[in-house]
Amino acid sequence: MAITDEISRRRTFAIISHPDAGKTTLTEKLLLFGGAIHVAGAVKSNKIKKTATSDWMEIEKQRGISVATSVMGFNYGTYKINILDTPGHQDFAEDTFRTLTAVDSVIIVVDVAKGVETQTRRLMEVCRMRNTPVIIFVNKLDREGRDPFDILDELEQELKISVRPLSWPINIGAKFKGVYNIFEHGLDLFTPSKQTVSERVEIADVNSPEVDNLVGAADAAKLREDLELIEGVYPEFDEQAYLQGRVAPVFFGSALNTFGVKELLDCFVKIAPAPQPVVAEERRVNPEEEGFSGFVFKIHANMDPNHRSCIAFVKVCSGRFERNAPYKHMRLGKTLKFAAPTAFMAQKKNIVDEAYPGDIVGIPDTGNFKIGDTLTSGEELHFKGLPSFSPEMFKYIENADPMKQKQLDKGINQLMDEGVAQLFVNQFNNRKIIGTVGQLQFEVIQYRLLHEYGAQCRWEPLSLYKACWIESDDEDALAAFKRRKQQFMAVDKEGRDVFLADSNYVLQMAQSDFPSIRFHFSSEF
Ligand code: G4P
Repeated sequence: MAITDEISRRRTFAIISHPDAGKTTLTEKLLLFGGAIHVAGAVKSNKIKKTATSDWMEIEKQRGISVATSVMGFNYGTYKINILDTPGHQDFAEDTFRTLTAVDSVIIVVDVAKGVETQTRRLMEVCRMRNTPVIIFVNKLDREGRDPFDILDELEQELKISVRPLSWPINIGAKFKGVYNIFEHGLDLFTPSKQTVSERVEIADVNSPEVDNLVGAADAAKLREDLELIEGVYPEFDEQAYLQGRVAPVFFGSALNTFGVKELLDCFVKIAPAPQPVVAEERRVNPEEEGFSGFVFKIHANMDPNHRSCIAFVKVCSGRFERNAPYKHMRLGKTLKFAAPTAFMAQKKNIVDEAYPGDIVGIPDTGNFKIGDTLTSGEELHFKGLPSFSPEMFKYIENADPMKQKQLDKGINQLMDEGVAQLFVNQFNNRKIIGTVGQLQFEVIQYRLLHEYGAQCRWEPLSLYKACWIESDDEDALAAFKRRKQQFMAVDKEGRDVFLADSNYVLQMAQSDFPSIRFHFSSEF
């Protein structure tokens, strides 16, 4: 197959949701349709269960599973689909943000009873920043929930994106009868079942009396009324607007009952983008280019201390990736060959000889890779787009075993390269500060430092509001600011200036006192 055909048949995306909305269930049903698994329940969730007090051993067990489910590739008709899994636990949100840099589109799952929840809102912000095309699946229609028009309004307001329903439910909860597929003009009748696929009735026109026979006169009348309203309120579905991330098509269904999932998938493969050009510092790189290029968006450490190896996940951006071919590792300036790259097909890890744009290749690694590293067939390229966001929690990290300072430093550096958390060094007292999204990451770091590096750390509390990357065209102002705020100035691991604001008030004052300084809440600006 020509490389252009390989590219155009690929769909690389992530499913995101607030925990419990049904991401795992939907993923599993998509795999069922792709023939990648044969029974429901085969996918164990990658989610680290939700409670804030998750115990660490449980996380470790689940991490083992999550390597296998990190990327799920399967064929569906002529399409090659790659689903990139994201951790459900919000303390690992940074992982999810990075995964979103490796996808071409996203499916957001929303619970019909709960509507838009915090995690969904934050993830959508990342999609919006990147203009990632989004499809929304409103789930759990078999349960009592909110009025679908209310849900649409909430989606628009909370996610700040226009929506366009492409399917429409007939009742909800106990009286749920099915959905009308606006995209394809079919009626899908609901039968609660976890294993079978619903029956599709093709109808020429929603006004035909057949609809009355199938769902009853009252519900048929309500459906017609609703559809009329939809056509009146929402502009016709505009595929270009979807591809530009301006409008999100909405589907309704019940993942648990495998209802509405096939419709979602069929529409998804048709409208979702094939691998897109990726922006490097030097230029835009098109997937069809001959030269191979790719970047590392995730590093997964093996948790077994006896086999300390990692898998670096490389997203292929252009050209053909080949096993054993010499590729240039930009940051190290070295040429490397990879003898055992793996692909993730149907949940199995297999050694692959080649991969195409949109694919994810797993490369066994013993410390060569950092998140964000670029590989190419030779050209100088550095991919952008792996921003760090201001952490939510900060602590000083201290050495608790003076004999093991070296091990501690090495461990901290490697864990930061893996993207477990962010390191800042306070320029005033030279102390190391670790910033995370949640408490769990501190536990992970402490545990891993001890078990993988033999180092012991101690945390000291530090109350900070935000880390802001600062820059200015006015060097004097920048120097003056750094002097004034010297106790709160740090550098990140790339050596960039970071202002650690201890309250929102302090930050606002700083912004108004130093108007020529730009304060950024993510490391890429
Ligand atoms: P997540 O990955 O987004 O966290 O959600 P997950 O798929 O694990 O689903 C969360 C819960 O919601 C699960 O129940 C799941 O069975 C249920 N669920 C998913 N889709 C539907 C649906 O369409 N209808 C209904 N009624 N429930 C749905 P659980 O009790 O937490 O887990 P389990 O014991 O069923 O696995």
